[in-house]
Amino acid sequence: MDVFDAMTTTGTCRYFRPDPVPEEAFKAAFGAARFAPQGGNRQPIRWIVVRDAERKRQLRDWYLVPWKSYLGAIGVGDISVGTLPKAVTDADHFAEHLDEAPAIVVACARLEDLHPTDTELGRLSVVGGGSIYPTVQNFCLALRAQGVASALTTLLCGYENEVSKLLDIPEGVITAAHVAVGYPARGFPTRLSREPVEDIVFDETYGTRLFQ
Ligand SMILES: Cc1cc2nc3c(=O)[nH]c(=O)nc-3n(C[C@H](O)[C@H](O)[C@H](O)COP(=O)(O)O)c2cc1C
Repeated sequence: MDVFDAMTTTGTCRYFRPDPVPEEAFKAAFGAARFAPQGGNRQPIRWIVVRDAERKRQLRDWYLVPWKSYLGAIGVGDISVGTLPKAVTDADHFAEHLDEAPAIVVACARLEDLHPTDTELGRLSVVGGGSIYPTVQNFCLALRAQGVASALTTLLCGYENEVSKLLDIPEGVITAAHVAVGYPARGFPTRLSREPVEDIVFDETYGTRLFQ
């Protein structure tokens, strides 16, 4: 599959088929994902593939807590999801059925191998994540190239202590994302919603369009 096709059709999958993803597909995706860059090539990432039904149910139960409060925060409260925009309805279905994804892959990282260079700026530090998320996206792309869908999530990261106990994650290793993985029940998206390239790329100084 052409890399541009993979990049433009790796959407966040909300509906999975129950069929398991073969071990070889996982191995190929994890193998390819490693080639993303990380600061100092310190390779902080460790992965846990969760397929056990009981563990997935527990992860779903925890996930639902921040998800339902997020729903509340965007002002929909207990309103029936049938009346909500499709993206929200889909994300709610995803949350309620998270345990039915064939696998939930937990992206972990060894904290000591992250090298954030923006911690003294008095604002949110983001550089540490730069050694993690390119690899996670590579993983999603490599799955996509094999016809396997994914949904990168972070809402469960707030349950890191609980998740660490559940999955025996040692001290010093953090959780950065939980990626639901499986074959898509509704195919892959062909038209993901993104801002026009003309609006987001600048020429020399911020605000001057490079592309007209
Ligand atoms: C850092 C990050 C965190 C995300 N966390 C969640 C999440 O916790 N739950 C969720 O349903 N989707 C999550 N998403 C998926 C986004 O909602 C999704 O990428 C966005 O809505 C665009 O959807 P699309 O890629 O299918 O167009 C996350 C995406 C990113 C990049």
